[in-house]
Amino acid sequence: MKSQEHQEHMEKIVSLCKRRGFIFKGSEIYGGLAGFFDYGPLGVQLKKNIEQIWWDMFVDSHEDMYGIDATLLMHPQVYQASGHAKNFADPMVEDLKTNKRYRADHILEEHGISVVGLTPEQINQIIIEKGIKSPDDNQLGPVTQFNMMFQTFVGANADSESKTFFRPETAQGIFTNYKNVLDTLHPKLPFGIGQIGKSFRNEIAPRDFIFRLREFSQMEVEYFVNPKDWEIYFEKFQKKVWDFISTVGIDKTKVSELEVADEDRAFYSKRTIDFEFEYPFGKKELYGLAYRTDYDLKNHGEVSKVDLSYFDEETRERFIPHVIEPSFGLERTILAILASAYSEDEVNGETRVFLKLKPEVAPYQYAVFPLLKNKPDLVSKAREVYQILKKKGKRVVFDDNGNIGKRYRRQDEIGTPECITIDFDTLEDNTITVRDRDTGEQKRIDIGEL
Ligand code: GAP
Repeated sequence: MKSQEHQEHMEKIVSLCKRRGFIFKGSEIYGGLAGFFDYGPLGVQLKKNIEQIWWDMFVDSHEDMYGIDATLLMHPQVYQASGHAKNFADPMVEDLKTNKRYRADHILEEHGISVVGLTPEQINQIIIEKGIKSPDDNQLGPVTQFNMMFQTFVGANADSESKTFFRPETAQGIFTNYKNVLDTLHPKLPFGIGQIGKSFRNEIAPRDFIFRLREFSQMEVEYFVNPKDWEIYFEKFQKKVWDFISTVGIDKTKVSELEVADEDRAFYSKRTIDFEFEYPFGKKELYGLAYRTDYDLKNHGEVSKVDLSYFDEETRERFIPHVIEPSFGLERTILAILASAYSEDEVNGETRVFLKLKPEVAPYQYAVFPLLKNKPDLVSKAREVYQILKKKGKRVVFDDNGNIGKRYRRQDEIGTPECITIDFDTLEDNTITVRDRDTGEQKRIDIGEL
């Protein structure tokens, strides 16, 4: 696709999300708040389906996996130990005329310059030497480091004693609960802890719809291993990330792995693979897989003065476990699914928009229609079919609004795989029409076959 088409593709996705109740701007009636988005009725179902698939694949289906749900605000010392208080910063520059602030690395990237591994002073020097200006063509101020954590105060006193931060990654709630899980369930290495929850980052430049947010959800596993085995489990999770990508219906041909260079890795990682997706606005990070070594447990042990070592009864060795971390952004998953699923074709000379969502993630698996709204027999039979599917635990919607063609179009747009129509023949012979979203093909089956 050319860049104009890419932009249109993105605009169509954003517009569909709003029009059909998937995703809205946060605080929209007040003009929105940059970097915050709300889920509407269909978006929340899509999100829940993805979370459920992730939980089943990474937690529930493994005997060596444990789930937790930790708080969003944590003790301030957590962030001293994790390194976020000191290191979780992006280089920032200010337009001296408009006072708008930008990520210095993004501005230089647009000039084809990578600032990986450079200090703010070195980035500053490049800006001066090359005469780089702001996107509004104004002079830029000096580069500073901007810490991305959102701070707040706990309790009635707003002072340095009560200051803490919203977690910038769910991972820290796992590290602080590692000992609780070890002491209560006594797992043997290797074992992992998984969590789904919100993370907060005061991004300098939130952008690209739900790609770079200030409040977002992560689905993370911290898998604790004997250091000698780290490569085995790194590879295991590498495969598992690909399994998840296929299971939720992300177009695999648009995903590629990037071995992150030493100087570009997060401060805690010894090896990282980024899984990148070709979003309509460019190839960008979808997920990360990191070898976090014993960085977090060692530091939490030192700062909290709690022994976080593990005793291996077989080898009689005591050591701090090392960690493999697959980390998934929920919103980036949604965006990649939508970008993969968005489709158009032509029906009766008109463009038809449909989302080729997998039934596992689609907000509704079935839509049930009575052919005519004003025929009580048809409506009550359709309600009966609706109830049959509901009782089977299916996600199903009832629709009797407008003509059948319009109802099909509405369901196609939200990705409902199958539409079921109850007509006069149904009343005679108990058969229904099932219509396929992608091919438009219809087949007649007995209600009992549902
Ligand atoms: N615990 C490791 C960690 O947080 P990360 O690469 O900073 O690593 C992991 O984030 C994943 O979280 C990313 O691959 C992405 O899917 C998602 N993510 C990170 N920052 C985000 C943001 N500002 N908005 C939306 N998703 C984000």
